[in-house]
Amino acid sequence: MQLEVQDLHAAYQRDLFVLRGLDLTVAEGDVSIVIGPNGSGKSTLLKSIAGVLKPQRGAVLLNGEDITGIRLDEIIRRGICYIPQERAIFPQMSVTENLEIGCWIFKRNRKLVHERVQWALERFPALKDRKNQLVGSLSGGLQRTLDIAKSLLANPALLLVDEPSVGLAPLVAQSIYAELFALKQEGKTILLVDQDVQSAMEIADWVYVLDLGRVQTRGSREDFAGQLHELVASWLL
Ligand SMILES: Nc1ncnc2c1ncn2[C@@H]1O[C@H](COP(=O)(O)OP(=O)(O)O)[C@@H](O)[C@H]1O
Ligand SMILES: [Mg+2]
Repeated sequence: MQLEVQDLHAAYQRDLFVLRGLDLTVAEGDVSIVIGPNGSGKSTLLKSIAGVLKPQRGAVLLNGEDITGIRLDEIIRRGICYIPQERAIFPQMSVTENLEIGCWIFKRNRKLVHERVQWALERFPALKDRKNQLVGSLSGGLQRTLDIAKSLLANPALLLVDEPSVGLAPLVAQSIYAELFALKQEGKTILLVDQDVQSAMEIADWVYVLDLGRVQTRGSREDFAGQLHELVASWLL
């Protein structure tokens, strides 16, 4: 599934543009990462693609078809899933119940709900081992894994992932990146937003550097080899 973003403009308040003419392409089967300083518009980009925030100008194309500003449920039906930075789980419910709720888009089809929940439990054995546990009692890493599992229930082709490792210990974060890499190998296309530039870069095919709501630099992972340190240091000035 190919995603194309053209001249995207988005704002939370009228005229105060956070995205100011952003262009980017995610090729089928690639992991593309979007990096950049705090406040450069990374999360806003994902929200604008996912239909959470309606772009004011520009276009989002999916396999060439204009999907700019369509509703979240419609986005999911077209094979896109959005994993926001904030966890979207219910701590007072069990792993299985959370997965069932994650099937809201096709909840009337009980057979399919059952099948997909079973699929997710098989795909993520660590969740299966704790399927009756309350989610609030799981570690941060497992809660993140549950987030990812939930996003896969509707069998998306394209994943939009915002800061998956934030707040996790380094080793746990590594396991989340390994999970994303496995998903790439299973054929998913991924657009990943990250502050953990080093880890994100390891699984990236293509890199976009944002600044002030525009793409400042783009290139393959190889293009950025050896420059990472300098790049990140420049954001801190
Ligand atoms: N809900 C919101 N309402 C108003 N302004 C927002 C909102 N969310 C983000 N912003 C502003 O938009 C800009 C870009 O934010 P964001 O996309 O979250 O950046 P990043 O993810 O790159 O850190 C920031 O200046 C931020 O303050
Ligand atoms: Mg953000």
